[in-house]
Amino acid sequence: MPGVAIIGAQWGDEGKGKVVDLLAEQADVVIRFQGGNNAGHTIVRGKDVYKFHLVPSGILYPGKLCVIGNGVVVDPAVLTDEIDGLRRSGIDISGLRISANAHLIMPYHKLLDHAGEAKLGKLQIGTTRRGIGPCYADKAARLGIRMQDLLDEKILKQKIYAAMEPKRLMLRPFAKDPTLDLHAMTEEYRTFGHRLEPYIADTPPIAWQVLEENGLVVFEGAQGTMLDIDHGTYPFVTSSNPVAGSACVGAGVGPSSIHEVWGVAKAYATRVGAGPFPTELDDDLGERMRQSGGEFGTTTGRPRRTGWLDLVALRYATKVNGLTGLVVTKLDVLTGIDPLNVATRYLGPEGAMFDEFPYHQSILHKARGDLIELPGWHEDIRAARSLDDLPETARSYLDYISDFLGIPVVMVGVGPGRDEMIWTGASERLRPAAA
Ligand code: IMP
Repeated sequence: MPGVAIIGAQWGDEGKGKVVDLLAEQADVVIRFQGGNNAGHTIVRGKDVYKFHLVPSGILYPGKLCVIGNGVVVDPAVLTDEIDGLRRSGIDISGLRISANAHLIMPYHKLLDHAGEAKLGKLQIGTTRRGIGPCYADKAARLGIRMQDLLDEKILKQKIYAAMEPKRLMLRPFAKDPTLDLHAMTEEYRTFGHRLEPYIADTPPIAWQVLEENGLVVFEGAQGTMLDIDHGTYPFVTSSNPVAGSACVGAGVGPSSIHEVWGVAKAYATRVGAGPFPTELDDDLGERMRQSGGEFGTTTGRPRRTGWLDLVALRYATKVNGLTGLVVTKLDVLTGIDPLNVATRYLGPEGAMFDEFPYHQSILHKARGDLIELPGWHEDIRAARSLDDLPETARSYLDYISDFLGIPVVMVGVGPGRDEMIWTGASERLRPAAA
């Protein structure tokens, strides 16, 4: 069985958690490889709704190996809370493993994230204020504190001192903030260390072994391609690489370990925070999509911007990730919107037209989607479990997307529930017995 990467093909919030949850049943290990608690995955199981920020979505299967990889940045306060919550719900988390090399979000990272955004004023990125950017910055500057440092008080204190010292000037407005006391911070993080120690591990060998034994490894992406720090709409991006190539770095495996790359995209588009969004609908229809799609952030509760499906950006994501299949989620949200629109190219100022995703920020900021109309449908599609159960116009919508991108649609979400999913022929072999 293969290594399968599940990647956000838009601006995040595509519904990757549900896909990973479904595949996790078959998987031998699920590995998160980037991002931190800026992500939020919601899993609906019957009447229960679970929200995760750091723990991989497979954790609801008792004893399932779920790895937080070295590429993830971990806020230990959030992780210990999440672990406590899972324990209170009676969930077996014995399969949780945290890479000893994963970097830690520290109190000063959160303060710097707030301060950085405040300083940018109107130009702000709209970060989740979780300290993600400053943490990755310290990692690159080789001033990061890693999970393994929690296990040695002396090293921990030295490293916190070394990391905080160069930031004195930027942290001056927070001089009286009690969380910035070196001794108290060391003590607090030592306590986190005691609590997390049973889960801290050398994680790449876990993936190697499963792959050697022909097991299934699911690489769980967070955020989305258009938020990638290299390939997204910089600087309105996150500080990690949500693209498929990053699964190797963030989990510790080689490219040959990833056999399938499935991009997850909503049947329309959303984005949280600032930055270009060529198909944005700033009108009643956009509001209707927001309400019927429940488009409010899992992590921050912020209303998401909504718009038509952007096939220019999606074809770019197909290339950048080497997608082998597309999962289309929330198709049901489009029920009753007729006609539907999709963008097949961009229009720039002075009549310029772009068939491909433009690399230049000035063009991208002004680009508007050149829309074509496709017929919609009015029938309730939530009971559909095969493509044949869908109205013909819904099938043609999916066919149009698949033809445009040149990859098959492998799954289609028709409602929030776990069973409200169509598995197409292409995904059948990874379909869990229960789905
Ligand atoms: P940061 O990751 O908190 O630094 O935020 C940078 C940008 O990425 C902001 O526009 C956020 O709204 C966006 N972002 C970060 N994580 C997510 C996510 O999980 N879903 C959607 N947007 C996200």
